[in-house]
Amino acid sequence: HQEKTKVKNIQSVELGKHELDTWYYSPYPEPHASCNKLYICEYTLKYFRKKKTLLRHLAKCTLRHPPGDEIYRSPPAPANDPSLVGGAITNPPISMFEVDGKKSKVYCQNLCLLSKLFLDHKTLYYDVDPFLFYVMCEKDTQGYHIVGYFSKEKASAEGNNLACILTLPPYQRKGYGRFLIAFSYELSKKEGRVGSPERPLSDLGAVSYRSYWTREILEVLREHKASLSIKDISDKTAIRTDDVVKTLESLSLIKYWKGDHIISVTQKIVEDHCKTIANQKNIEIDLNRLHWTPYR
Ligand code: COA
Ligand code: NA
Repeated sequence: HQEKTKVKNIQSVELGKHELDTWYYSPYPEPHASCNKLYICEYTLKYFRKKKTLLRHLAKCTLRHPPGDEIYRSPPAPANDPSLVGGAITNPPISMFEVDGKKSKVYCQNLCLLSKLFLDHKTLYYDVDPFLFYVMCEKDTQGYHIVGYFSKEKASAEGNNLACILTLPPYQRKGYGRFLIAFSYELSKKEGRVGSPERPLSDLGAVSYRSYWTREILEVLREHKASLSIKDISDKTAIRTDDVVKTLESLSLIKYWKGDHIISVTQKIVEDHCKTIANQKNIEIDLNRLHWTPYR
């Protein structure tokens, strides 16, 4: 491995209209690794030491979206809906692209290098062939602007449905991370299997998953008044049974009785849950707009 040091090298990157302060070391190849600041093309994710070189690249660059298939596009915002004025948050249109690590190797390697700037633990950088990358973009008249992504092994022996997840800092805490997690489970549902994220999770990853699992499981329990087993919950959500159990335990909703378990939801829990979700930023996935078949 070419990691000489773990000391943070690149302090900031310019990406589209954003200037991002970095969080961690990333093994960009020299001489770029020794730069204080990198200039990155938001469409190809190519990186440059000088703004001048980026501008020269952009003048020739024709790509305006990630190099893959657009598999999801959010529904258009309702036009002139008076109920939205001053009230509800209207999100810009979102698209998801599926990018194959083998077909678009350099792009995916550049994506991994960029994401390492915000990830503490080691991730892959160069061996991207076995992965698919699901890249989330906001669309405007200029093009599709990268917001975040998650990666997924084409064939995971451990049954992982997500390897790495990132929301770029300017877009964090707006519900995009939750959207990406939800998207990974929707793909698992289409595959007809359960999934779980690769471990270890970062602190922010763990917080985001705990929030997602709690909401999904409580929603299922609320909708189905009849008693459900852990397997039932797992089947409905594509959340792996051990993640279901952990979540129920953290909520004190599971009791063990003579080697069996009982899931008990009180009215109080449901009410508290409704208050919680009212404060969560949730971007719905419209499944009619997901055009995807499992990788084979
Ligand atoms: N502090 C406390 N809670 C936080 C948080 C923070 N800094 N960031 C997110 N959360 C919580 C949110 O409150 C939300 O929970 P809620 O709906 O119950 O309120 C939940 O996590 C998801 O928030 P959301 O806005 O959808 O997530 P995000 O777009 O900010 O993305 C990550 C979450 C993990 C993808 C993002 O923090 C990230 O990219 N981190 C750096 C890379 C990383 O660590 N990836 C995970 C590797 S396993
Ligand atoms: Na350069």
